[in-house]
Amino acid sequence: MTDSQRFPNGFLWGASTSAYQIEGSPLADGAGPSIWQRFAHSPGRTTNGDTGDIACDHYARYKDDVALMKRLGLQAYRFSISWSRVFPQGTGKINPAGLGFYERLVDELLRNDIKPNATLFHWDLPAALDDRGGWLNRDVADWFGDYATAVFAKLGDRVPMWATLNEPWVVTDGGYLHGALAPGHKNHFEAPIASHNLLRAHGMGVQAFRAESRVGQVGLVVNLEPKDPATDSAADRAAAQRGDAYMNRQYLDPVFKGSYPEEMVDIFGEAWPEFPADDFKLIGQKVDFIGVNYYTRGVVRDDPTSSPVRIAYVRQPEHAYTETGWEMHPESLTRTLLWVTERYGRIPLYVTENGAAFYDAPHTIDGRCDDPLRVWYYREHIKAARAAIAGGADLRGYFAWSLLDNYEWSLGFSKRFGIVHVNYQTLERTPKASAHYYTSVIQSNGAVLDG
Ligand code: BGC
Repeated sequence: MTDSQRFPNGFLWGASTSAYQIEGSPLADGAGPSIWQRFAHSPGRTTNGDTGDIACDHYARYKDDVALMKRLGLQAYRFSISWSRVFPQGTGKINPAGLGFYERLVDELLRNDIKPNATLFHWDLPAALDDRGGWLNRDVADWFGDYATAVFAKLGDRVPMWATLNEPWVVTDGGYLHGALAPGHKNHFEAPIASHNLLRAHGMGVQAFRAESRVGQVGLVVNLEPKDPATDSAADRAAAQRGDAYMNRQYLDPVFKGSYPEEMVDIFGEAWPEFPADDFKLIGQKVDFIGVNYYTRGVVRDDPTSSPVRIAYVRQPEHAYTETGWEMHPESLTRTLLWVTERYGRIPLYVTENGAAFYDAPHTIDGRCDDPLRVWYYREHIKAARAAIAGGADLRGYFAWSLLDNYEWSLGFSKRFGIVHVNYQTLERTPKASAHYYTSVIQSNGAVLDG
């Protein structure tokens, strides 16, 4: 192994989860309902009607889960804070008991020498704010700013790494354009407004963070996915550009370049509004890092019937796919990290999510759970991350998605992304082979990848 193939000293190895997906007890200790509480309890919205009422019961079992992280050798843990635990109505009166849960979690992590990495918003908007228009109401940026200020005031001294939002693209594409995720709207006119207000809220969150001198860093987490044209035709190449603008550049261009990609007008037509120029000052607050969630790439062709982006995904017959139908394409993780570096400058990057759902073998055999495809997925993607460092990306850490099998949103418990198996009857946790493999990656700072 040459030096250029090594992970730098201090490279941060962790795993990720999010509040609604693992905590359970969503209304405990005075919490208000979130839009996910409502959505999951609406008939027909989720696979098998699954809800996050119990999920992994992490709310009650967080100490055991931190002990598990310790045993696995994790150096960092990325989790999200539930806004409606902290502010049951979204704004106004704070609920100290809700915030208290995250104080206990953070203290437990620190006691175990695990670095907390907290995300303020991972999709679970307080339902009371949705009643006031949610992400469509411009005031949401101020509501988010107040929430962020309250959380920073309590935890800012102990949490070194913060993200404002997780994946604004998924919030708007799933929540406002196609309706598969909460709040379940299907409206071309709403999606750009929701996106823009998410970005304004992000800016308010960064401002709130900078308002007092803090030791930590703040960033934005986006999901990125290169779009490759299915053929070399001009129509397919243009389709790939539209797909890239819609999913990748729509969020990073405003943050780093102060404007939206020009393709947005072509994509949304009359549904694309004129946004106030001043908003871009707020959106463009300096961030300390970008978190990249990477799962797959997309091969696309022009499809005039598919509104509004006019693309269709083309399956690659010779390639392997995960259980969620996502092509396994590790080299596109390298490309993605280098693309961010080239387009937006050499900003510190973290892979904040990377992982895969597979049908895992039953884990009861000798207390083992073999998941060879997931081991392969992690080995190849972590190598691809290393190649991005060798290629010039300032990649500082990597987080596996997910620590635990958990509530996969509208797919309920039908898809397992964990490196740790969760038996949903007994809630027993069993590290899979991929968890043990990841431990060896961490302990050797990546040297084991070539073994
Ligand atoms: C999200 C996670 C989700 C994962 C797998 C990401 O888009 O941040 O919450 O579970 O992908 O679908």
